[in-house]
Order: sequence, then structure tokens, then C-alpha cells
Amino acid sequence: MATTLVMETVMPNALSNNDRQANLMMNIQETPEKLQATPTPLAAVKSPFPLLRASSLEDWLHPESAQFNGLLMERKAWWNDCQGAVDQVSRDLGEDEKLIVSVKRGPEGFGDFQDVAEKILQKVNLPQDVKDAVHGDICQLATTVGELCPWGDSLLVKLELIGEKSCRRWHRDYYCARAIVSYNSAGTLYTADDNVNFWELEHKGGNERIIRDKSEIRSAGVGDMLFIKGVKFPEPVKGLVHRSPETQYHDNGLAVNRLVLKVDVPVPAAWESDCDCCP
Ligand SMILES: [Fe+2]
Repeated sequence: MATTLVMETVMPNALSNNDRQANLMMNIQETPEKLQATPTPLAAVKSPFPLLRASSLEDWLHPESAQFNGLLMERKAWWNDCQGAVDQVSRDLGEDEKLIVSVKRGPEGFGDFQDVAEKILQKVNLPQDVKDAVHGDICQLATTVGELCPWGDSLLVKLELIGEKSCRRWHRDYYCARAIVSYNSAGTLYTADDNVNFWELEHKGGNERIIRDKSEIRSAGVGDMLFIKGVKFPEPVKGLVHRSPETQYHDNGLAVNRLVLKVDVPVPAAWESDCDCCP
């Protein structure tokens, strides 16, 4: 089957909806004055786009994906707004609740993920269209991630309700990889390595010191599938710098909860050091 890979650089005067969403969250004014302001030397040089933009999950398996810190499949959410239901599930289960299923790779691979999806979804009361979306995503995303990481011996499938506790500091993940989908509110923020002060990143610097140019911050949209390579990913290009979006609040002061699917790829047991010379 022919594959179509879309690898484009986003121009400053052609912001996508996702970029506008990121600007909004970072309080960047998208005014003509802002766009016409004299650029700093750093802002004048566009960072390379850090993600492979694919039109299907199959494209993630293309060898081209090795050249990127992460992979993206943009989608238009086809389920109705579920904010009220997500907030209610959060109240029922407790904020920052996680539903986790660990799956081991067997001689026949991981098998299908239907049982995993059903096991997770039976514990939450969500609209049927959202359940259908999550069910399909668990099956398709976990299958693709398993193929993308043939060295992986297990996957962790998690459905999380994220309120105020989230990773809002810019960071790289210290494991192999994570695929992530947000079903409401906002998606993960990310940026290219060229836009990062790595000394600040690795020495507890604040967000404002880590990022060189805020206009180079991008955001995954609601419904998008994002694959984040961690620092343990076994390829030279890895370690996407990213963070959770800012927590938003309802008028009554309560946090806007997000429904998030994660498929994590832990470091395989065979890679762990088993020498007897280390503590
Ligand atoms: Fe992370």
C-alpha cells in the first residue's frame, strides 16, 4: 500500500488551529502587531519541526520515522464535547485517577487489545461515542506501538483523568516511549530541540528559561495521536521535549479535567543491568 508522509514546516503567518491553541495557552497574542514585530535573531530562525506528520498510523512504521523526536497523526475529534461527563467521572473516581492495564508480549506478540479496552472502559461512565473512540484507539494505537517497538516486552495502557496534577515543566521522558491522546480540553505541548536551552532543562531551570522562543511552541490537538520518544528509545533521534498544557479552570474555580489515553513502552527487562559490579 502506498504511504503518504507529510513533513512540513509551519510558517509563522500560517498557524494551524493547534498552533493557535498553543499560543492561546501560552498567552501569546496573535495580533498583526506581534507578527510584524522586529524578530530577535533566535525568532528569525525557524526550528525544524520535531514530529513526523503522518496521515495514518501505518505511516508511523515507515523508516522515515527514525529521523524525528516523535510522531503525530492529526485527527478531527468525531465525538461530541464530553467535558461535563469527564468532570463527573473525575468526581466519581477521584481526581487524577488512573486506570492501568499491563500487557506482556508473548510468543505470538501482544494479541489484540479488545479485552484490555473493555477492562478499562467498564470502569468509567462516559458517553457512548467517547467510549467507542477510546476503545478503537486502544486497539489501534497499542497494536501500532507494539509494532513500532519490536524490542519492547510490555506495554502499559492507561486511561487517566488529569486535573491539577500534571507535568507542566518542560521535560523529556526517562523511559522508552509514550503514545498519548487527549479527548477534551487540550493536548500536549512540544517543541524542537533547537528551541530548548538544555542546560536549563537539565538543571531545574524554569519554563521561561528553558524555551528560547515561545512562538516555536506547538500543541497536539484534542483527538490527535502523538508518539513521544523518550531518552531510552533505541535510536539516535529521540527525547521529544514536551509538557502538559496549563490547567484551565471553570468559572466556579474547579479544575477542568482532561480524559487522556496513554500507551507507555517501558524499558525491556533484558536491557536492565544485571551485572554484579553495580549497587
Ligand atoms: Fe512526559
